[in-house]
Amino acid sequence: MPTVTLTVDGKQVSVPKGTTVLEAAWKAGAFVPTLCHDPELTKPGACRICVVEVKGARNLVASCVTDAVEGMVVETATPAVVEARKTILELLLDNHPEDCLTCHQAGDCKLQDYAYFYNVKPGAFGGEAHKYDLEDDNLFIVRNMNKCILCGKCLRACEEKQGRAVIDFAYRGFKTKVTTAMDKPLADSVCVSCGSCVAICPTGALTEKAMLGKARKWEIEKVRTTCPFCGVGCNFDLNVHQGKVLGVTSNAASPTNGRDMCVKGRFGVDYVHNPNRLTTPLIKKNGQFVESSWEEALDLVASKLGEIKGKYGSDSIAALSSARCTNEDNFVMQKFMRAGIGTNNVDHCART
Ligand code: FES
Repeated sequence: MPTVTLTVDGKQVSVPKGTTVLEAAWKAGAFVPTLCHDPELTKPGACRICVVEVKGARNLVASCVTDAVEGMVVETATPAVVEARKTILELLLDNHPEDCLTCHQAGDCKLQDYAYFYNVKPGAFGGEAHKYDLEDDNLFIVRNMNKCILCGKCLRACEEKQGRAVIDFAYRGFKTKVTTAMDKPLADSVCVSCGSCVAICPTGALTEKAMLGKARKWEIEKVRTTCPFCGVGCNFDLNVHQGKVLGVTSNAASPTNGRDMCVKGRFGVDYVHNPNRLTTPLIKKNGQFVESSWEEALDLVASKLGEIKGKYGSDSIAALSSARCTNEDNFVMQKFMRAGIGTNNVDHCART
């Protein structure tokens, strides 16, 4: 693959042709902030916080939408670059609620991180700020459009990753807002609650209802696991606080699904702590289920299977397994049926 060599902050770096200046700068170890950029989505070059100075260019350029070319000389932290980034942050902060103390996203918010890094405070410009109502009509997602920075990642994830295009920019100028067709509540739209928008939101504009107010971001332990709902085997991170699973966050590094998940996987783990879950075997005695020990339950199953096999033969018994079990469990099940019971009557829910 042809490469180009450029200089970033005095350091030479070679990258494949077609690489953006942003990616080249990152490769050179430079810090370049981004808000609207995501490597899995198209590049709108909207927020301009990634600006850098390119020798010979009349203006600062948005590095995420500029290709690196041979011999280019890039500076990522000149006074002009820093001033431009600070101005962008000041403009965003002046139309942003000052509630970092109680914001659920605090500690995992790009706007907060960059404001801290550049020592930017609200109030530089003053002026009008949005006062939208909190939108919590959706079963799983809470939308606080006062915290939206119009990066557009949510609507691009919805259209480009999920193929839904449920949300988009509406209105014009200061009134521009991410919303559904005809600005209807999310619950009345064709949203299927996949949560891709929540996963990609860089601020607290979109949050998961179940986790809201349950723990600060830095108190949550992330435990990588495999989804138990079907045989696809999506990976995600359980969000655990004080021994309780609060919810999940998808992980772009997951080899199976990246950040994509279905509604069950992303929002359905509350069953873990459901008090109606069976935690001990039940045996029907006199028409009523009564709790038993595992020994008693397994002895009963073994004696019943032996009884049926003796009376009607091995092929009178069949086993149906589940995609919710691990591969190892499914292997053991078919092995038990073939080697232990003596039948090939095995099937699996995922086959149908
Ligand atoms: Fe480059 Fe937004 S990150 S314009």
